[in-house]
Amino acid sequence: MAPLKEAISAKHKLAEQMPFNARMFRGQLTQEQYLLYLRQQLQIFEAIERIGLPHNRLKRTEAVQADIEELHAQGHTADFILASTKAYADYLSARSYEEILPHVYLNYMALIFGGQMIKKHVPSAGRMYAFDNIQEAVQSIRAVQKDEWADEVNKGFDFNISIFNELEAECAVMK
Ligand code: HEM
Repeated sequence: MAPLKEAISAKHKLAEQMPFNARMFRGQLTQEQYLLYLRQQLQIFEAIERIGLPHNRLKRTEAVQADIEELHAQGHTADFILASTKAYADYLSARSYEEILPHVYLNYMALIFGGQMIKKHVPSAGRMYAFDNIQEAVQSIRAVQKDEWADEVNKGFDFNISIFNELEAECAVMK
């Protein structure tokens, strides 16, 4: 069986290259657009964290809420939930603790790796990307990760890709 990282690399490349993500990485999102992205992230983290995490220090909900409040305080309001986000959150909410773990790997490693590169370019303090002890955060996920998760992680990528598509469509309307 291929190592997990290898089995997900094609979908990772697709996700990384989504126009919304590429613009975020280049520092081209407005605060309003970034707020809309954060609202989707909050929905995902809330769904996962209601079920459980391998380590408490991974928790993101409060940090994302603080980032959202920062943008609200500056007068931004785009914080509705997209249909694609609702579909992923509903899917996550129906999973058991064991079944949610591939999605913990997907969504939290995204912040730990790509996120550390992106945080310098987002129009916010970026609390969502700040972990007290990043090595400990990585280790808590590495300790449970399995190569057997490849299909489920790739399914999670598909949900994320739909969200990036819908975010891009919303941005075109916001301009
Ligand atoms: C601009 C966007 C992104 C960039 C620049 C980026 C970059 C990276 C980098 C540099 C790594 C470490 C690779 C290595 O160890 O050689 C990584 C790992 C990872 N990324 Fe991304 N990423 C992005 C978007 C995403 C997205 C959207 C997701 C999923 C929602 C994601 C999920 C992951 C996962 C799960 C890993 C861990 C792979 C492993 O080591 O097991 N990434 N990313």
